[in-house]
Amino acid sequence: MMKTPDQQSPPASDDDVVGERVRIFDTTLRDGEQAPGFSMDRRAKLRMAQQLEALGVDVLEAGFPQASPDDFAAVAQIAGALKATTVCALARCQDGDIDSAARALQAARHSRIHLFLSTSPLHREHKLGMSKSQVLETAVRAIERARGLCHEVEFSAEDALRTEPDFLAEVFSAAVAAGASTLNAPDTVGYTTPTEIVELFEYLRRHIVGAERVVFSSHCHDDLGMAVANSLAAVSAGARQVECTINGIGERAGNAALEEVVMALKVRAPHFGVDTRIDTRQLYPTSRLLTELTGQAVPRNKAIVGANAFAHESGIHQHGMLKHRGTYEIMRPQDVGIAETKLVMGKHSGRAALRQRLQAMGHTPDDDALDDIFSRFKTLADHGRELHDEDLEALALGHDPHAGGPWQLVQLHASSHLGGSASASVKLAHDDGHEVGEAAIGDGPVDAVLRAIERATGTPLALTRFQIDALGEGADAQGHAQLSARHAARDWRGHGSSTDIVEAAALAALVIVNRIERQSTLNPLTDKRPSMAARTDAHGRAHKETTA
Ligand code: KIV
Ligand code: ZN
Repeated sequence: MMKTPDQQSPPASDDDVVGERVRIFDTTLRDGEQAPGFSMDRRAKLRMAQQLEALGVDVLEAGFPQASPDDFAAVAQIAGALKATTVCALARCQDGDIDSAARALQAARHSRIHLFLSTSPLHREHKLGMSKSQVLETAVRAIERARGLCHEVEFSAEDALRTEPDFLAEVFSAAVAAGASTLNAPDTVGYTTPTEIVELFEYLRRHIVGAERVVFSSHCHDDLGMAVANSLAAVSAGARQVECTINGIGERAGNAALEEVVMALKVRAPHFGVDTRIDTRQLYPTSRLLTELTGQAVPRNKAIVGANAFAHESGIHQHGMLKHRGTYEIMRPQDVGIAETKLVMGKHSGRAALRQRLQAMGHTPDDDALDDIFSRFKTLADHGRELHDEDLEALALGHDPHAGGPWQLVQLHASSHLGGSASASVKLAHDDGHEVGEAAIGDGPVDAVLRAIERATGTPLALTRFQIDALGEGADAQGHAQLSARHAARDWRGHGSSTDIVEAAALAALVIVNRIERQSTLNPLTDKRPSMAARTDAHGRAHKETTA
């Protein structure tokens, strides 16, 4: 449906334009989704869009409707579902693209068409085969057409950072006159630097006719690893919209990572003097949702949302953290939606952290006992292992946390049927000499084998996490299974490796079952341990681990 001028949102008011709020334009579902490995089906896109609205993004670029019928349908569905967020559709400066975008956005409460056209000499000559005046005319005609079909129009000068600044200012001035209310200067190939982008934005704000009536936007790619730095530099030079993606996904090396841009603006608020509307406590859940929907994990050391972002292993850092968290943390994990700081117990950890962790679990060894536990802990950790609470507890109780048994896997058979349930049977041998065979059906072969193990050992496991990673490449790669389960109000972890992923899962489950069984035969010391709830109340964050 065509929007008449009086139905259109007024162009950004002066207040909007000059205000100190930076709009967050999320393009996870367009620039992010078009990168290899990140495609999502329509349901996944809708789920992601709803989460992005909960996160508080101002504009959500939902797709490129002319690219495919599926993209069209995804944009239309998201346009109908979102309430407060402006829904945006990408379009080339071509009538067919603009009309598709407008149709897909029909149900949106706030709609934006995002037009783009290359302006750099390289693109003009080799991609478009257009002269400067043709580029200018094409942009103006497209903006005028789109203006009547949606609430607001954004114009992007593709490859802006490699465009002659005077020509860029000329195109942008014409775009303002034609009705664009947001001007985006993309660093399409991730080529610019912070100082260079500052110069460009300052130049544009001085030379564009009508600059005071529009919002300037940055859109940076990460080819040289500077997308976030360049976006922040653009903000310091007057950009009031940043285009970015969750986890920094996007074409080639990706786009500026939303969570990094937002947290830099928040943590360094006095430096930047601007704010966003993002509910930062939704950053981590949003990042996790994207990894689940795409199956692509973020690196451990990824800023803000990586598993190590709030983890400390070195003794010196842990010691500092225990005295004052500000020594090694510039933001609170809770501010980004992570439950707590993680003091990882590994080979770099010191006695102070070990004592604190053991105390959080209800163990109060005296100095001699702590020396003994610490030296056994170091021997294990020196083999490169990260030690979890159950390992530390076993050490405190004088056990070898990595001892095998009592159960061993003797035989395993699993089969699945297309469209039907799966079945599995296991034979297990116990250290006391007896063998047990059990079979079960389940929702897939892994589920079936876990049920068979539960039956055989009599140990119920409520699975809370199951992850399979390939170690290496090719058909003979080892599968590494990591399982977490609840049993008797506690969390238990186990892992196992095999070229057969069902066997890897079975081995991981047996590690858990064995730990539980060994724990249940421990000496009465264990009875002194407070319950999980008590530990949580008494010691807060210390005993629990963040899963990431
Ligand atoms: O990188 C780019 O130039 C783009 C445009 C479509 C804005 O993604
Ligand atoms: Zn891009």
